[in-house]
Amino acid sequence: MIGRVTFLKTSKFRTLKMSHDNAPTPLTSSTCSPLTGTIRVPGDKSISHRSLMFGTLAVGRSTVKGLLQSEDVLATADAMRAVGATITEQEDGSYTVDGIGLGSLLEPEHVIDFGNAGTGVRLTMGIFGSHNIAATFVGDASLSKRPMGRVLDPLRDMGTNVIARDGDRLPASIRGAETALPITYRVPMPSAQVKSAVLLAGLNAPGETTVIEPIPTRDHTEKMLKGFGADISVTRNENGERVIKLKGQPELKPQDIDVPGDPSSAGFPLVAALIVPGSDVTIENVLLNEHRTGLITTLIEMGGDIEITNRRETGGEEVGDLRVKASQLKGITVPADRAPSMIDEYPVLAVAAAFAEGDTFMPGLDELRVKESDRLAAVARGLEANGIPCVETEDTLTVTGGANNIGGGTVTTHLDHRIAMSFLVLGMAAHKPVTIDDGAVIATSFPTFTSLFAGMGASISANASEAA
Ligand code: S3P
Repeated sequence: MIGRVTFLKTSKFRTLKMSHDNAPTPLTSSTCSPLTGTIRVPGDKSISHRSLMFGTLAVGRSTVKGLLQSEDVLATADAMRAVGATITEQEDGSYTVDGIGLGSLLEPEHVIDFGNAGTGVRLTMGIFGSHNIAATFVGDASLSKRPMGRVLDPLRDMGTNVIARDGDRLPASIRGAETALPITYRVPMPSAQVKSAVLLAGLNAPGETTVIEPIPTRDHTEKMLKGFGADISVTRNENGERVIKLKGQPELKPQDIDVPGDPSSAGFPLVAALIVPGSDVTIENVLLNEHRTGLITTLIEMGGDIEITNRRETGGEEVGDLRVKASQLKGITVPADRAPSMIDEYPVLAVAAAFAEGDTFMPGLDELRVKESDRLAAVARGLEANGIPCVETEDTLTVTGGANNIGGGTVTTHLDHRIAMSFLVLGMAAHKPVTIDDGAVIATSFPTFTSLFAGMGASISANASEAA
């Protein structure tokens, strides 16, 4: 099989344009006065990626309001253009996606650079993997370290040819199967990306693809595919595991999508308002999907004053407004089985824990080791650099709150947007300013982060020595 894959030419990589290879931009965040205001965070990253992808697979025009205009999502837009979609920003900031339809993807004429975007590349590999086209994927230094085997292995089972760097890392080239095999796949780790990649490959496979999910993860792929007209069902088997069945080769119909605010991005103003004394902030229009609200549940258990108002439904998803006031938090044990519903929020939770009375114990964190950075290590090193006691094990983190004289450190962000933003939040309530070595990577998911926080009263400066 491997012998057939002759399209990976080293010359292709000479055109490589890696994101975040420019000079780093250090930022310093200093103790600030109370944060106040009513804000909106940008659109949900998971739904934004999927809107562009599913719009491409439908025949006709979808519209997307509130799309997250971040580097990650724009990389997905470029990938979808490379296979024939027309994606256009309109004057009012919404996007149109003119899809070409499942089964009709064109072969990309260039290498696809996904920058920092794990969701983008893994889901796209799923889509392309069952189309008879060849494609080569690259990413930045962070994405090139992340494991792709978790997606490439089931794709190989479905008939996709793969050549990847050692350990199934990027750069990787695939040629989709002429006729993909529908499979039954039990997802070995709690990962919505893996689940989604298999389902998306199954879209263009004749017959029924089944994904068994022992630990539930975000369900945007299932919900949105149904909305686009796919024949997809979710039941529970006798072991209580989610069983997702998808009938291949449906005709997907274009949709009008309104992307709600990203709860992962909302985590930053949420924690900042809790830890900066006197703060009172309202975050409007936040996605409240039950697989995404673990941080809110945890912060409320820690004693956070968070009121959820104006709960409503848009496009099959629950959204609401969050009013959050500064609170004295207390340390808790976060149940390990809550991890999938707050997997991207542990860095900022660790910051909240630094201001809580006593210890906060976070078990079940093994997946944090394979995010945009080894987040467990990056958080622990960042806390230590700022005088906050913590203990890191293979899959747990314990943070002891209430230390005196915290801050004053420089945090290495390892091209990880959530590490960058979390430690800027730390600086807002620490005794001494906190510096991050590179703020450019924030554009991955939350390009308006610094201006939004400045508007609430935060003090983030690009000139480290001035702010200190
Ligand atoms: C995502 C799934 C999660 C999450 C990521 C977005 C998605 O990754 O960390 O930011 O949109 O499916 P895993 O599937 O690796 O847990």
